[in-house]
Amino acid sequence: MSNVTVFDDLLQEVREFPPDPAFTAQATAADPAIYRRAADDYERFWEDHARELVWFQPWARVLDWKPPHAQWFVGGKINAAYNCLDKHLGTPRRNKAAFIWEGENGEIRTVTYLQLHRDVCRFANVLRSLGVTKGDRVAIYMPMMIEAAVAMLACARIGAIHSVVFGGFSPDSLADRINDSACKVLITADGGWRRGNVLALKNEADKALEQTPSVRHVVIVKRPHGEPFPLNVKEGRDHWYHRLIEQASADCPAEPMDAEDVLYILYTSGTTGKPKGIVHTTGGYLVNTYATSKYVFDLKDDDIYWCTADIGWVTGHSYVVYGPLQCGATVFIYEGAPNHPGQDRFWEMVARHRVSVFYTAPTAIRAFMKWGRQLPAKHDLSSLRLLGTVGEPINPEAWMWYHENIGRGRCPIVDTWWQTETGAIMITGLPGLSTMKPGYAGTPFPGIEATVLDEAGNEVKTGSGLLAIKKPWPAMLRTIWGDDERYVATYFSKWDKKTYFPGDGAKRDEKGNFMILGRVDDVLNVAGHRIGTMEVESALVDHEAVAEAAVVGRNHDLKGQAIVAFVTVKGRFSMSDDLRKELSRHVVKKIGAIARPEEIIFSSDLPKTRSGKIMRRLLRDIADGRALGDTTTLADPAVVEQLRETYEEKYGG
Ligand code: PRX
Repeated sequence: MSNVTVFDDLLQEVREFPPDPAFTAQATAADPAIYRRAADDYERFWEDHARELVWFQPWARVLDWKPPHAQWFVGGKINAAYNCLDKHLGTPRRNKAAFIWEGENGEIRTVTYLQLHRDVCRFANVLRSLGVTKGDRVAIYMPMMIEAAVAMLACARIGAIHSVVFGGFSPDSLADRINDSACKVLITADGGWRRGNVLALKNEADKALEQTPSVRHVVIVKRPHGEPFPLNVKEGRDHWYHRLIEQASADCPAEPMDAEDVLYILYTSGTTGKPKGIVHTTGGYLVNTYATSKYVFDLKDDDIYWCTADIGWVTGHSYVVYGPLQCGATVFIYEGAPNHPGQDRFWEMVARHRVSVFYTAPTAIRAFMKWGRQLPAKHDLSSLRLLGTVGEPINPEAWMWYHENIGRGRCPIVDTWWQTETGAIMITGLPGLSTMKPGYAGTPFPGIEATVLDEAGNEVKTGSGLLAIKKPWPAMLRTIWGDDERYVATYFSKWDKKTYFPGDGAKRDEKGNFMILGRVDDVLNVAGHRIGTMEVESALVDHEAVAEAAVVGRNHDLKGQAIVAFVTVKGRFSMSDDLRKELSRHVVKKIGAIARPEEIIFSSDLPKTRSGKIMRRLLRDIADGRALGDTTTLADPAVVEQLRETYEEKYGG
């Protein structure tokens, strides 16, 4: 557990923030009895929330738990798009904005619930006309635009399974994900704007499409009001979204889905070279994302809610689309970069759209800190009433900065811990009830039984250990697409088949607050993005010059962690700066820019145990410039010393 960040020394001086009575007075969760009620009977707690959704057929059993598998709301029939859209049409929300979108160039588009419903129905019919039927997989590779959500909801409406791939992933990564689940259709866009440049997604997708035999049709969304992009349209395979939708009927009844039918697959990094297709089903996922959105973000009808996550990550699924739309919220989405054209772009938009609930990642907050408090100070942020963070541990200093400079000391902050696998927020404060403690994510959400265990499975009451979840929850992953054995081995084999192992270290204080200490496996968290060290290593050894590679994370002020790669090259190649640059480009080509190594260190050998295992712990020590841990098990201790010297010469340790 040496790659964890601990803030203890800082926390000595940190204040606690009890709930503000004015907030509590209007909060959706205002009675602490919610915790007791959920703990007394967690099945009943979730069932009560399931009743707030629209079901075509009620469930026969709330939970069917055959560890390590669980099924929720067994026998129930439901549709995700129906609960996000149709449910609101008979209410005053029908003409309320569902999405307000701002392009990087400043264009603004708004769609109401009624309009969104119509677009989703038409696009669902388009998908049907392209041969998509219930259970088929559809890949979505899009910039942040309303049509990305339309595409997701259209799949959900007809029971197709969507697999959204983040637009920053490379064509190779896109192809791997499409092939793993044999997607029939790909939905993409001609391009999107990012920091003043066009990200030509369809052109990227074309490179992937050379290796994806399952894809029969490609739908291209033309980015509204955008510049025309040079692009290939392959006759018979590629179609323009706006042409197809023009001809499509807006009559498309929602398919009654079994509660346990798959809603989507979302790939995430693990400890092997191959990303895992996390499988989420329909009923439980909807109930769980609904309940958490309602209580954690305290969504009200007049809120303008902004979650800055891209649709390509789980946060974009649960808290840009499914959770807030079920609550009938107005969701703001932004296309581009936070520092374009100026570093105060976010605050300008908060003021312009009167954003009231704002949810972002600690990496972004640390960037705002670096850019300076004078930037948010220039803008009217008085509309904000609640702030959130997600994706990585937040250091108390960044928490305090966020509280003072964005929340102006008035807004509660919810630090929400969860994962692609958990589908919904698991550990968090509730804004009207919890005392906030900077650096701590708070306590388990009602109905969630989280704890801290040691390696042997003994409970750690207060102190550090491994985070564990003891009971199933409705939005939990059901399996890994095509690899149930890996599901069992990764998540339910650490202790016993009933206990979920998230792969994070955690520390609990005497009041039961959890501090999340970061990953304890070979997964890095770089700027809130999850990247497997093995994935980067595989990308490096894929290059002809590389003999061996070991990748570790180094603590980084802004990004939380940065990627450091130790590489040995084959004899006929020279360890040059040019090669270093080429290897960096190669990783970007194989995975995407988010995996670009910050440092590549050449070495004639890597430190290994006598049985040949690379000792990453020592590499982490070197990368972080720490005193070396135990080196007695090394086959050749000289390797480490030499490596450290090379590193210090080049980077000053
Ligand atoms: O290490 C934890 C960290 O992000 C990981 C999950 O990454 P991903 O599946 O990409 O989902 C991110 C968005 C939900 C976790 O294993 N993490 C997430 N939230 C927090 C966090 N670490 C500390 N505090 C958090 N609030």
